Amino acid sequence: MKPIFIANWKMNKLLAEARDFCRQFQDLYTPLEPQFKDVGIAPPLTALPTVNEELLQSRGVMIGVQNLHWEQNGAHTGEISAQMVRELGTEFAILGHSERRQFYGESSEAVSKRALASIKNNIRPIVCIGESKSQYEDGLSEKVCITQLRESLAGISSEKAKGKLIIAYEPIWAIGTGLAATPEIAANIHAVIRKELNATFGASLGETIPILYGGSTKPSNIAALVQQKNVNGALVGGSGLEADSFVELIAEGRKASSL
Ligand code: PGA
Repeated sequence: MKPIFIANWKMNKLLAEARDFCRQFQDLYTPLEPQFKDVGIAPPLTALPTVNEELLQSRGVMIGVQNLHWEQNGAHTGEISAQMVRELGTEFAILGHSERRQFYGESSEAVSKRALASIKNNIRPIVCIGESKSQYEDGLSEKVCITQLRESLAGISSEKAKGKLIIAYEPIWAIGTGLAATPEIAANIHAVIRKELNATFGASLGETIPILYGGSTKPSNIAALVQQKNVNGALVGGSGLEADSFVELIAEGRKASSL
């Protein structure tokens, strides 16, 4: 499976900064092949139209959002629906990021509703799971991840998941800390996730679902991560905020996975 690299800008960048990133990115970035979109950027919603317009010429780059609501429309002050962001060119949605789970009370049940709404609107859901530092230290990583995965995928049939669903394993202790999971730790949890996906959807589909790793990825550690059997790319925070580091990370990741 060819690896996928997604930059999550979180709550960063004003319009001029987003535009600067895109112009530098265009200069540095080489598309893999027109048919396969292996790179994505999820700017804050305010910068989405700008990024979309600026990167229109960059074949192979998807534009995404960091959340969306499961209803199509209605009395939901402050929320944005899947059909609304689809209209802006959105191709993927990061759902259930640990920052949303930790700080905004996001439940796995809500994640599954958001994922279903995404699929219905032809948006690929990137369902994020991951354990906290204390859960990791207590040896609960696998248990926590599998529970989150099962609950977050509730109601998603094989038919719906096919060609759409993406999973991201992001240990909370590795996010923004500079301490990425070792390739061995990532490989172990990704294998457990793969097994669960195969059990849920059948191996013929389960084996095709990309499982991204996220947490302190950078150009210097991406190669060893994507060389692991079930690590199919990365969800990138800090290293995705600068065009040069993101392009370098993509190049290192592509190179390593083709060895
Ligand atoms: P980081 O963030 O790469 O800055 O650790 C990852 C994420 O939150 O997806």
